[in-house]
Amino acid sequence: MVKERITEIVNEALEMINNAKNSDELQEIRNKYLSKKSELMSLMSGLGEVSIEERKSLGQELNLAKAKISEALNLKQEEIGKRELAEKLAKEEIDISLPGKNHQVGGKNPFHIIADEITEIFLGMGFAVADGPEIEEDLYNFELLNIPKDHPARDMQDTFYISENVLLRTHTSPVQAHTMLASEGKPVRIICPGKTYRRDDDDATHSHQFAQIEGLVIDKDINIGHLKATLELFAKKMFGEKREIRLRPSYFPFTEPSVEVDITCANCDGKGCSMCKGTGYIEILGGGMVHPNVLKMNGYDPEVYSGFAFGVGIERVAILRYGIDDIRKFYQNDVRFLHQYRKKA
Ligand code: PHE
Repeated sequence: MVKERITEIVNEALEMINNAKNSDELQEIRNKYLSKKSELMSLMSGLGEVSIEERKSLGQELNLAKAKISEALNLKQEEIGKRELAEKLAKEEIDISLPGKNHQVGGKNPFHIIADEITEIFLGMGFAVADGPEIEEDLYNFELLNIPKDHPARDMQDTFYISENVLLRTHTSPVQAHTMLASEGKPVRIICPGKTYRRDDDDATHSHQFAQIEGLVIDKDINIGHLKATLELFAKKMFGEKREIRLRPSYFPFTEPSVEVDITCANCDGKGCSMCKGTGYIEILGGGMVHPNVLKMNGYDPEVYSGFAFGVGIERVAILRYGIDDIRKFYQNDVRFLHQYRKKA
């Protein structure tokens, strides 16, 4: 009779396990059939009252029953567990159609936008990019550029001195000397973008630190027409196809003849307005034919070789292109200023 009851309990339990729908139900079944208060357990504790033989076989029956129920519970738990996990994962799936969070990305300072653009234009004309030190020797910054110690041109280019003969370069022109000496008499076609320094009281149009792009071409039969054509192409690419240039006589100790280069004012197309102070032209850079003394001092025979050089102020070009009213804005890192030049993605 007891054995039959055990079989009944097992069958009943197995059926319930089979029909269980979730972990909670399974736990209830486990409590009902295997806990201390379960019927099987009370049958277990009643074993003391039966004969020894009966006790043995009943005991085995009860243990078997417990094992069967427990195994069925475990199997079902595994099955339900897997299903529940799959359901949970499906529910928590990331919705990739939701709009993303906005992350702030940086952008280039307009100074660098323009420096890169100028560089690209000259790379397109076959120039290579050269480099030189910002801390420079008097020799390269002045002497090898035909500016000896007592030359009045030095007054215009006072700078920061590290020692009597070592200074922060006042222009990128010393790279002319470095490049010529390194090229050992061979043709040269380089530009050099870089920082320059002068002793100046900072205001909207002056800065003790600024930047230039130097250009230098040396070869046989180079004449001022090459200089003009090169700078005209640069002006049109930088400021628009409609821009014309004009060369005005000027003076630099390291070029002869020297020129100041103006472009027609983009604001009035050369008619004359407040931006160009009625002249129709705006000055953008200085240049000229490399002085024979400079060629000689840097290893070139001026009877065989000739060349042209120019120096563009990077901030000056950026100021004209964007209509910026204060040179200091390039260095102050004010995001309200910088954001205006960020490329929209
Ligand atoms: N170095 C000159 C300046 O800073 C510019 C320049 C460069 C002029 C090359 C002529 C040739 O004013």
